[in-house]
Amino acid sequence: MKGKTRTAIVFLAAAVVACTPEGAEPALPQSDYALEEPEHFQRLALPEDNPLAIAGVELGRRLFYDPILSADSSLSCSSCHLQERAFTDGRAIAVGFAQRAGQRNSPTLANSAYLYKGLFWDGRAHTLEEQALQPVETPHELGHSWAAAERALRRHPLYPALFTEAFGITDTSELSRELAARAIAQFERTLISANARYDKVFLGKAKFTPSEKRGRDIFFDTTEDLPSGECSHCHTPPLFTDESYVNNGLDRADELEDFTDTGRGDATHQRFDNGRFRVPTLRNIALTAPYMHDGRFNTLEEVIEHYNSGGHYSENVDPKIKKLHLSERDKKDLLNFLLTLTDSTFVHNAAYANPFLQ
Ligand code: HEC
Ligand code: HEC
Repeated sequence: MKGKTRTAIVFLAAAVVACTPEGAEPALPQSDYALEEPEHFQRLALPEDNPLAIAGVELGRRLFYDPILSADSSLSCSSCHLQERAFTDGRAIAVGFAQRAGQRNSPTLANSAYLYKGLFWDGRAHTLEEQALQPVETPHELGHSWAAAERALRRHPLYPALFTEAFGITDTSELSRELAARAIAQFERTLISANARYDKVFLGKAKFTPSEKRGRDIFFDTTEDLPSGECSHCHTPPLFTDESYVNNGLDRADELEDFTDTGRGDATHQRFDNGRFRVPTLRNIALTAPYMHDGRFNTLEEVIEHYNSGGHYSENVDPKIKKLHLSERDKKDLLNFLLTLTDSTFVHNAAYANPFLQ
């Protein structure tokens, strides 16, 4: 069991409508999934049209691990989002269908339910439902077509019944990509990580070592006696992201048009957003190397060195990115603090594992 948790069972009156007029959307099943929400996180806001249900979460988990969604049945979401790596893949840049490389590093899916200000490094998807529709038809991810994937799901011996149980469809023809995406999003909303050593200390159940505590003080700028790391202004607890889009000085760019990956600018088409990326969570950071949107740093030592050096010039680099003047001991302590964000119960939770291997 994870720390101290609050059990919330959400009943949505609108979702329990018994009879559906002909031609209308099938009634959503009753929300019966008891999500354990960490008491030190904000309450999760669930979308009204996709409440959590046991059958939906289970179906979503199956779809997440099933290569049926890829063009040649060789890949699934889990090929790039591996539980043992906190749902990342260990590669700098993700590699998908036909060994095609994409452009960016696979992010963790831990606590993505709490990200309300955009998904992907550039925030171009607004909800997990919208996001889940994309990998199937992305040529360098699952490389498939939804029309073909829907046909395969409809003629599958099990899926029609699983969709009926999860969404109350009355005919196999109603089995759709939208419902598949809803199920995947339900599963993803259960991927909550809140039981790291950091959380135990926060909840008064453990104590930091002197080195971790010093690192914590640098991360949070809590004392005049140590240099300010400035980290927590962007990597804000409990998620260790404030969900803003910023440029943390990775590349020198004399003009805002010069970034190799324009990042947030792709989504907003605002020149000033070029080179900005969503602040990533640091939870389970020891498990999610390599780092940054393009996986350029292999180790946390390199990341710390980047921040310590003050980063590179561009017009929109964040003012908090500046030389930190950390000593060798400061760097080591900061690293030790980052290691307290690893949640081993999350990566070993059987409820998130591949159902085909259980
Ligand atoms: C080939 C590897 C690959 C596959 C397969 C893949 N992903 Fe991803 N995923 C990525 C990469 C890379 C990104 C970041 C892309 C970007 O920001 O432009 C990403 C981003 C995401 C995000 C956004 C997370 C965040 O913090 O913003 C979610 C959620 C996600 N993927 C879920 C899925 C699901 C669900 C599937 C299966 C339907 C899937 N992925 C298949 C590589 C992959
Ligand atoms: C001004 C906001 C800001 C500050 C301050 C900041 N970061 Fe970041 N951090 C970011 C952004 C944005 C990224 C992603 C950048 C990218 O990939 O383009 C990032 C990425 C990271 C990553 C890689 C995460 C991953 O999943 O790849 C680590 C680790 C990290 N920061 C640690 C720190 C530490 C430690 C500090 C303090 C010394 C710090 N950050 C200060 C904004 C910030």
